[in-house]
Amino acid sequence: MSRRITSDRPNLMEVEKSEGSNGIHVIDLRDLYGPNHANVITQIGFACQHHGFFQVKNHGVPEKMIENVLRIAREFFRLPESEREEVAEYCSSVRGLVLRLLGAISESLGLQTDYIDKQLGNHGQYMAMNYYPPCPEPELTYGLPGHTDRNLITILLQDDVPGLQVLHNGKWVAVNPIPNTFIINIGDQMQVISNDRYKSVLHRAVVNSNKERISIATFYSPSPDAVIGPAPDLIDDEDNRPAVYKKFTYQEYYDKFWNIGLATECCLDKFKA
Ligand code: OGA
Ligand code: NI
Repeated sequence: MSRRITSDRPNLMEVEKSEGSNGIHVIDLRDLYGPNHANVITQIGFACQHHGFFQVKNHGVPEKMIENVLRIAREFFRLPESEREEVAEYCSSVRGLVLRLLGAISESLGLQTDYIDKQLGNHGQYMAMNYYPPCPEPELTYGLPGHTDRNLITILLQDDVPGLQVLHNGKWVAVNPIPNTFIINIGDQMQVISNDRYKSVLHRAVVNSNKERISIATFYSPSPDAVIGPAPDLIDDEDNRPAVYKKFTYQEYYDKFWNIGLATECCLDKFKA
């Protein structure tokens, strides 16, 4: 991390606490397959549409597994074989969660439950373990500058140290850690498939003056050759809902993204219809 010029600092005084109505909604997945199904779908749809971010609890990934994967990440790079296996099990458990969420998000858009799943080709799943060291002057830098996620959907596990902030109504909102809770965010590809109903929003990570912070991000993506475009059911030329994006392969998107670099400038604009 390096000291940034004044105009490129997080401005920590202006960040809102996520208490109250601005917060990132916590959705209880316990009832996703119960009598309350429709209500859970509505909550997911609302969160995707208005925030592009939500949190899930009772998600089916065992508590012990979460505890272990965070501990393992903390012991960064000192992985014996048995721990590698634990990480692999965590990855498949998270994959299960992603598949349930993709079903729920499809439904929340009024699409067939397996619609999004079917658009992805061979699904890609990447895990990043982020380590944010303590920094004596957090207001001078970022752990991770503002960005949107270029993939389809991201599942973030953070430890008990705050740092993630999400842009909502023009203001940065701090997402306070809740144990055993994943933070889910909509990526660029989901914004395209939903024809702009769901938003891939800017987020960033800041650092703390005396504590290190760990987060584990699982990026879920289409296969490079998957053709991504707005779902036909969400396009209606007569109803003022024309396709906002043209079709492209995820590979094309990726190439464009790397050409732009990590700029916060929106890559999605380059794929407008
Ligand atoms: C990311 C990300 C946030 C965090 O890795 O894309 O947004 O809190 N991470 O680590
Ligand atoms: Ni991100």
